[in-house]
Amino acid sequence: MLRVVAYVCALLALAHGQTTNVQSCTFHNGPLPINTYIEGCVNPPCVFPLGQDPVINIKFRAPHAVQRMTSFATAFLFVAIPYPLGEAAQTCNYLANSSCPLDEGEVVQYSLNMFIESTIPAGVSLPIEFRIVDDNNNALVCLRVPITTAAPLSSDMLAGSASGV
Ligand SMILES: *[C@@H]1O[C@H](CO)[C@@H](O)[C@H](O)[C@H]1NC(C)=O
Repeated sequence: MLRVVAYVCALLALAHGQTTNVQSCTFHNGPLPINTYIEGCVNPPCVFPLGQDPVINIKFRAPHAVQRMTSFATAFLFVAIPYPLGEAAQTCNYLANSSCPLDEGEVVQYSLNMFIESTIPAGVSLPIEFRIVDDNNNALVCLRVPITTAAPLSSDMLAGSASGV
């Protein structure tokens, strides 16, 4: 159900032609997607509240036939820190309008839900690179975007105080 909602949101965002101004990767390589929209963020840094799942909608073209894909996120704070995406790393499971394997030249819409751990401090600003690689470790897409972590949204804090935490 959540997935369906995410897909509908992705398609609506696309229908409205929304775009986040992301950059090319500088640490990894790989081409920019055709379009990237990080929900609620047009001009980075994008604000990522702790305990939330920012949604990153990516439209890209498969440069060749692709059997399987994996998504990666890397944060940069003095050094490159891999950020675990968990289940969301299985790119093929989060395509809005296609499924794997992809044909060469196929254009697909993909939504990455990236959970922001509550253990990360609020107010941290750093760049993140997102990339999608195929089975042979070739990058299909790579993008870089500065983000800032923020305190959990107030509804979460209210829920926390209501339950006596
Ligand atoms: C998926 O959606 C995107 C964006 O609407 C579109 O450009 C693309 O052609 C679609 N791909 C397929 C396989 O339907």
